Amino acid sequence: MLVLGIETSCDETSASVVRDDFDILSNKVASSLNLHKKYGGVVPEIACRHHLECINYIIKEALDAAGVKLSDIELVSVTYGPGLTGALLIGISAAKALSYALSIPLIGVNHLYAHIYSAMLNKVDVRFPCIGLVVSGGHTVLVLVSDYNKIKLLGQTRDDAAGEALDKAARLLNLGYPGGPIIEKMAKNGSSNAINFPRAYLEKGSFDFSFSGIKTALLYYVRDLSRGDTLLHKKGIQSVPIHDICASFQKAVFDVIVDKAIDACIRNKAEQLLIGGGVSVNKTLRIMLNDRAEDKNIELLFPEDKICTDNAAMVAAAGYRLYKGGIRSDYSLDAEPNLGLGN
Ligand code: KG4
Ligand code: ZN
Repeated sequence: MLVLGIETSCDETSASVVRDDFDILSNKVASSLNLHKKYGGVVPEIACRHHLECINYIIKEALDAAGVKLSDIELVSVTYGPGLTGALLIGISAAKALSYALSIPLIGVNHLYAHIYSAMLNKVDVRFPCIGLVVSGGHTVLVLVSDYNKIKLLGQTRDDAAGEALDKAARLLNLGYPGGPIIEKMAKNGSSNAINFPRAYLEKGSFDFSFSGIKTALLYYVRDLSRGDTLLHKKGIQSVPIHDICASFQKAVFDVIVDKAIDACIRNKAEQLLIGGGVSVNKTLRIMLNDRAEDKNIELLFPEDKICTDNAAMVAAAGYRLYKGGIRSDYSLDAEPNLGLGN
């Protein structure tokens, strides 16, 4: 079955053609990232205008690159949430129009499910139950996956997402946007033990996250440093290399994520951990997860790098899987900006 996937939940306009759920024939992404850089974060109006300008040609590019015609497509799969309302509506409208014009079924896909599903893509030996972890700019979510379409929410962030914390830290440090990759690069030459940023584990046994405290801790740290605060001077700290700040901040964010993800696997007797979302590209996070997982005999399943960040291939593949599970959408499909995960 040839599936056309469409993704427009945030700043990436993406279309992809996937055969069944494993053969990615094309995956085209037009990002408006550069347009947002000077504002230090995604501006919804700019993202929407970019989606409107790009949606038709990106679909055409995906079809051309896959070597198929529009009339060959048998299912259209689209992200309907969570995300920016206006941005989601552009993808949904395009998908509905195609479904109607071509008389093919339409399926709405949860963006978070697509990130988790991308880690299962092309993996021959997925053993349920497993734990799913999505770490992105908008979300930090831990779920129990007991079958391809059966997901239970274990925990999520109560404030900032992990990627959002990295983006805000980079903005505070004047390093640019998006912060995750910049902080990763700076951290390579720094010591992760230089500064002891707080780790928020919340109530005992909780799988929820909170990254607003560490963001505030960084703010105070930088403020104190820049005015030569006496407390820091008393501790002998006059200047701290930016690389050390980045390495320590990143480590504090990742420590909590790794601890909770591994704990979720142990407590739910899961042998595999599925990881998706933009932050999962980070090599330090992967090494930290790997070290802990090896210890506990847990297997890590990552998507290929190019489908870690937002893309339509994961939406097409997840849509196919849902379709095969008997799930259908109709033309009442609407944007659900705050859509959660779990059934
Ligand atoms: O999944 P994604 O493309 O979009 C959302 O659904 O949010 O994730 C974007 C996020 C941004 O916060 C960005 O800073 C972060 O992923 N990111 C990274 C890296 N590459 C992207 N974070 C840490 N290390 C990276 N290498
Ligand atoms: Zn995403």
